[in-house]
Parts: sequence; C-alpha cells; structure tokens
Amino acid sequence: MSLPLHIIILAAGDGTRMKSDLPKVLHPVGGLSMLAHVFNTAARLDAAQVHIVYNPEHEALPGTLDHPDINWVAQHERLGTGHAVQQAMPELPEDCRVLVLYGDLPLLRPGSLEGLLGLPDTALGVLTMEMLQPRGYGRIIRGDDSTVSAIVEEKDASERQRAITEVNTGIIIAAATRLRAWLETLRNDNAQGEYYLTDVVAAARADGTVIEGVMAGEPGDFAGANDRAQLAQLEARLRQRRADELMQKGVRLADPARIEIRGAVEPGRDVFIDINVVLEGNVILGDGTTIGPGCVLRDCQLAPGTRVHAYSVLEGVRTHGACDIGPFARVRPGTELGAASRVGNFVEIKNTSLGEGSKASHLSYLGDSNIGRNVNIGAGTITCNYDGVNKHRTEIGDGVFIGSDTQLVAPVKIGDGANIGAGSTITKDAPKDKLTLSRSKQVTIDGWKRPRKVTRDK
Ligand code: UD1
Ligand code: CA
Repeated sequence: MSLPLHIIILAAGDGTRMKSDLPKVLHPVGGLSMLAHVFNTAARLDAAQVHIVYNPEHEALPGTLDHPDINWVAQHERLGTGHAVQQAMPELPEDCRVLVLYGDLPLLRPGSLEGLLGLPDTALGVLTMEMLQPRGYGRIIRGDDSTVSAIVEEKDASERQRAITEVNTGIIIAAATRLRAWLETLRNDNAQGEYYLTDVVAAARADGTVIEGVMAGEPGDFAGANDRAQLAQLEARLRQRRADELMQKGVRLADPARIEIRGAVEPGRDVFIDINVVLEGNVILGDGTTIGPGCVLRDCQLAPGTRVHAYSVLEGVRTHGACDIGPFARVRPGTELGAASRVGNFVEIKNTSLGEGSKASHLSYLGDSNIGRNVNIGAGTITCNYDGVNKHRTEIGDGVFIGSDTQLVAPVKIGDGANIGAGSTITKDAPKDKLTLSRSKQVTIDGWKRPRKVTRDK
C-alpha cells in the first residue's frame, strides 16, 4: 500500500515584478486567482490534505479560498523555497508522500502530474521540462548515467550549465521522512542567500536515493507568471485551452482567439458563438443555441434553439424554449423567458417571467413582473416597480396588448385579453378583455397662430 499524499503549495512570494498591491498568487487568470487554479488541481489529486504556505502579512489571502480542509501555514520571512517547505513539514504526518506545487502555476492539470505521482515512494521525483529559452529557471544537471545529479539556479550556474535547456518546473515529490532529512542539510551560501528547495537533489544524491527526472509532456502546463506580460500569456494560453475544449464538445467558434471563458460552460450540440463573447460563471447552452458578437453571459441556462443577438448582456437568465434576445438587450437576474418569446433592442428586463410567445421588442423596462402568454409589450413601456422604498410586482395576464409609452405603476394587475391604450399611466387594475386607457382628450385650437420672430433695428 502506498503512503498517503500531502500537497504543499508555495504561495508566500510577494511577486514584486507585478508592481501590484495584490499578492502575486491572487492575480486572476481566466476569471480565477492563480492560487485557486492550483488548489483546484490539487483538490483533484486524492490528497489526504493540502497545505498552503503563505505570507501572514497577506491576511486576506486565506479568505479568498473558502475551503475548510486547507491547512494554512505561515512563512514569516521569505528565505527561499526550501525554507517555505520547512515551515509546512511539522504539520505533516511522520510517514507520507509530499508533493510540492507552486501557487503561480495556474495552468497545471492533474494529468500533467501523472508521471510524477506514478513513481515509487522511495524515489525523489523532479518534474522537468525542455525550454529553448531557459532564462531564469534552475537547470537540470544529469550525470554520466543520465540520472539527475543536481539542480543549479541560473544565478549560480556556470556558462556551460546555463546552456542546458532542461529546466526545473519546481515541482517535486518525495517521502516525508527523507525530505525532512534533506531539508536539514540546506544552506543559504548561494548567489541569492536563500534556502533553495532545489538543493534537496544534491542531498538525496549524497545518500544514494534514486532521483527520477520526469520530463513534462506539455511544458505549457508549467508556465508561471512573474510579471504582467507573462500573466497575459497565461491568459491567452488558458483561453486557447478552453476554446479547444468547447470545439471538442461540438461548438463552432467564429474565432477561438476572440472568446473569453471565465467559468464553466456546458454546451449542447451545434452551438455557435460569434466573436468577442464573454462567458462567466456557470453557463449552459442548449443544442443549436447561437450567441451573437459582443455578448456577455453570466450564470445563464439557455434552452435549445435560443438565439442571443449582438451586444446583449445576460445575467441569471433562464430560457424555456427557442426564443430571441437582443440585439442590445439587457437581461438581468431572475428572468425566465418562454418559448418563442422575444426581448428586443434596448429592453431591460429583471426578475420577470415572460410567457410563451410574448414580445417586448423595443425600448422597455420590465422589472418584478409576471407576464403571461402571447402578450405584446409596446415600445416604451415601463413597469414602475419602485416607490422609492419598496419594490412591487406587476401582473399581466395572457393575450394582453400594452400600447406604446405606457407606465404600469405597481402593484397593478392587467387581466387576460385586456388592451391598454398608448400613452397611459395605469395606477389601478385593468379588467380582462376591455380597453383601458388614461389619457387627456386631444384638442385642436382654432385660429391659433405661430408666433413670429421679432426683429429690432440696431
Ligand atoms: C524556482 C526554482 C527554479 C525553478 C523555478 C520554476 C528554487 C530555488 N528555484 O525559482 O529552479 O526553475 O522556480 O518556476 O526553488 N516562495 C515562497 N517562499 C519563499 C520563496 C518562494 O513561498 O521564501 C514561493 C513563491 O510564492 C512561488 C514559488 O515559491 O510560488 C517559487 O518562488 P520563486 O521566487 O518564483 O522561484 P524562482 O526563482 O522562480
Ligand atoms: Ca518564479
């Protein structure tokens, strides 16, 4: 039986090169902090526990990952990666396997760690990668028998060693009993005056431990971010990865480089997404759904056949059949749209259900309303749902026709089949099947003359 797995995520660095008040690991990639990405990967590895080493001056950090099972370990001084791991070791059981990850490697996937996790408990595993431009990375030194004999940091490396293109990802795995012993031997007499985790390799070598340098299949998975430019590269990589996933699930993307996926998307078959669409939170797109250019969707569930037209912003929307939204619609939380319904341009709709076949085609605000089936909402209709203190509901029955430029002052009910004359301010319930209107009579003034322009001599 193999030993239980404990994961240590190093996240105490300041990330000075970000030039930011935010700790480096909290910078977002694809809508989630780098640390949250790494934790999510760690959480899928069947570990007995995840330990995160952090700088206690970043007090807000633990609160950003609201997970009761995380063991937060303070590193009071930044004395190097080896020192960081040392802080966590007393918290681990005597006998276990330790996997060390970095909090700034958000593209890590469980699959990218398989080779390392498959090693025998007795070995020291080091995850390496090939880098044509290895600047800044620790170089992997292999002996005559090609096993790893040391890792040399760039600042300590000779000219010859700097030419080596196999580098350290920073990720290692080892038995806790051995790692403890190796960590005891670390010294900081190097170019940076730090306790390097990488020096455990030389220590392991000295006591005859087998060191396995496992080369990563996808070096892109181990890209970190030290500055904003690298952060933007990670963003682009993650965008590409998520776009690929969508296309593999059968989505047609107008341009995989021009979509932003900042959450979890569950697409049906034959979905089409045009350029510059942003998807956030949990988005479910039924079969044959189409999303026009420039749309933003957050936490939406769209039924098969739903068409979202250009430049619409949807949040917390659920559709119950093929319907049309936009262009230029703003649909806010709590909105339910029936089959064959339509929300047109410059319509804002919130906390409202719009029944099957009902239409609000232009320029309206519909808030806190229940709207029945086959209702026509004329242009410029406003539900006055707020009296300055409380919100009130508007109830509109089936088959109602609301004339243009009508205000419905809630709470108010419009009966089935009612017609409301254009330009009305409706403050009382309107009965079913009748025409109701509130409008002053139209008059024409006989003998009226347009005023004439007065000209004065200068
Ligand atoms: C480290 C490795 C290098 C490797 C590279 C890969 C060492 C000595 N060097 O270098 O071989 O190629 O990563 O990216 O390990 N951290 C702490 N406390 C500290 C110092 C660092 O928690 O006292 C954390 C940082 O937050 C970061 C990680 O450890 O998540 C790596 O630290 P960083 O300073 O970026 O190491 P590198 O110099 O890049
Ligand atoms: Ca780094």
